[in-house]
Amino acid sequence: MKNEFDNLKVMHEYAWGLITRGTVDKKSPALHPTFGTVGLKGMPELRTVVLRQADQMAATLEVHTDLKSRKIEELKMNPKVGLHIWFPKNKLQIRFKAVSEIKTGETLREKWDKVPYKSRISYGTRPAPGTSISTSFSYEKPANFERFCVIELKIEEMDLTHLGTRHTRALFTRESKWSGTWLAP
Ligand SMILES: Cc1cc2nc3c(=O)[nH]c(=O)nc-3n(C[C@H](O)[C@H](O)[C@H](O)COP(=O)(O)O)c2cc1C
Repeated sequence: MKNEFDNLKVMHEYAWGLITRGTVDKKSPALHPTFGTVGLKGMPELRTVVLRQADQMAATLEVHTDLKSRKIEELKMNPKVGLHIWFPKNKLQIRFKAVSEIKTGETLREKWDKVPYKSRISYGTRPAPGTSISTSFSYEKPANFERFCVIELKIEEMDLTHLGTRHTRALFTRESKWSGTWLAP
């Protein structure tokens, strides 16, 4: 990006280019977004996740998790999600607001078959993630398809802040068909 962003369409396209790169480039900051939920007691909850898929046309993202993780309980209570990525080299911050849909069961068989074994053990920890245990290694990690869970995120808003020579900030919403509007940074 040679200049600071001064065109909404360019800024939006540029952001999506960076987001989708996260699903194929292990060095991209988009590989590891921060995923925010509203906790069971109303407090914010943040954690790092892996971005598994990004679809610009549909404006959706995909994250995988363990069905028994706390975030699933939280999403069942409140499906709204915040997501955050900072691209230091590009000086771009992206903040997403999204609504999640939780998918489990046989429809995921094809996706599961593509999950490498070393990653499959992320789904099925015994006891369930977040359970108090007596020593640091008092747990097992069997791969368990029944616990494999896909979170599909339907993006509703993207708030972009670019720290160029002069800072720029723009909001893109599904409602406005992603046409975008400038905000004071
Ligand atoms: C680099 C990194 C990547 C992670 N990727 C995922 C992921 O893709 N899915 C996931 O559920 N947890 C992932 N985690 C673990 C979460 O950050 C979190 O500790 C775990 O999911 C439990 O969160 P919860 O109790 O809020 O559900 C990752 C952690 C790190 C440090």
